[in-house]
Amino acid sequence: MPRFPEAPKSLLIQAANRSTTQPSTRPTDDELRTARRARIGREELEGPHPSTLGADPSEAGPAHAGPTRDLDQDLVEPGPGQRWSTWRSVAKGQRGPEPLPDWLVTRDAAFDTELGILKTGKEADAFLIERAVPASAPSGDTPPGGAERCLLVAKRYRSLEHGQFHRGTEYTEGRRTRRTRDQRAMEDRKSAWGRAVSATQWADAEFVALRNLWSAGAPVPYPVQIDGTEVLMEFVGTEVTDDAGGVQAVAAPRLTRQRPSDDLLESYWEQLTDGMSVLARLGFAHGDLSPYNILADGERLVIIDLPQVVDLVANPFASDVLLRDCRTVCAWFTARGLDVDADALFADLLGQAL
Ligand SMILES: Nc1ncnc2c1ncn2[C@@H]1O[C@H](COP(=O)(O)OP(=O)(O)O)[C@@H](O)[C@H]1O
Ligand SMILES: [Mg+2]
Repeated sequence: MPRFPEAPKSLLIQAANRSTTQPSTRPTDDELRTARRARIGREELEGPHPSTLGADPSEAGPAHAGPTRDLDQDLVEPGPGQRWSTWRSVAKGQRGPEPLPDWLVTRDAAFDTELGILKTGKEADAFLIERAVPASAPSGDTPPGGAERCLLVAKRYRSLEHGQFHRGTEYTEGRRTRRTRDQRAMEDRKSAWGRAVSATQWADAEFVALRNLWSAGAPVPYPVQIDGTEVLMEFVGTEVTDDAGGVQAVAAPRLTRQRPSDDLLESYWEQLTDGMSVLARLGFAHGDLSPYNILADGERLVIIDLPQVVDLVANPFASDVLLRDCRTVCAWFTARGLDVDADALFADLLGQAL
């Protein structure tokens, strides 16, 4: 007789309000039927791909629903709001750079569980994902020291229905598109194909920028993998235990509203200018750098949101873009009381780039 799996411990995250008593033997037939219906419905929608998370939040099943057990095969299957880890379903070149961080879950037995939306935007939505090996999974493929659970951010680019990305050709100038068919499709933004290609290319651009920057030691989230329009990256934040004993994942705040002490402000400035220098030496300007795209993770700054990185050599608008980045961040530091000079920063970075 099939045994109902224990809910993986990891799924109890953010579940302080739910009952944590697990069924000790097996679920009721009603529960099984519901779980099965949910799975079948999803397969009909999305085909046989192991992913069960829809790109549109309204399509995704309820989060934290937990895995189900296949009635016939006695196998643990992802439940609604879950999918198999996509780590191995993408090619090696679509995964993050070596050395892989030791917190990263790479086991095939892992599930991705959608825990919630961090932010919806015009061009992309950011979701909090837990990648974890269910407690009931066989331990056979455990690599030595392999992590069993980690939190990730899935940034999913949208194929826009109307108009185009506000990051327009100013950014893509000087970038080569791989296939002229894609190029033509992007120019014809009315076609669904054109919108899809352009969403994929923004995702691609962000993943490549993160990979180059992370490898060069810049303070950016570790880029875990890219799959079409979805970039998976390290979650920047912490997990806190609330009064009821539930665990909450709390994303690092944006720099915007932070009021750091004088010492921390100076440290932030050094970290940011060091990060911008790494970008400049690689030949890039961020292109949308502002306190909204810098996370304050305690004492550490992390630069995010990089799809529009600008090539300082190939792009004729690059120095304007770099100067704007310098002015935007310097305005924030000046307002917090640090005496910094945007023109001096700009000259310094340009010098490092060339
Ligand atoms: N790696 C991350 N860790 C934690 N929070 C993140 C991460 N990436 C994005 N976020 C959150 O999601 C928001 C949107 O992400 P961002 O990359 O800036 O996309 P957008 O194009 O929508 O501005 C960020 O402001 C931040 O609050
Ligand atoms: Mg942003």
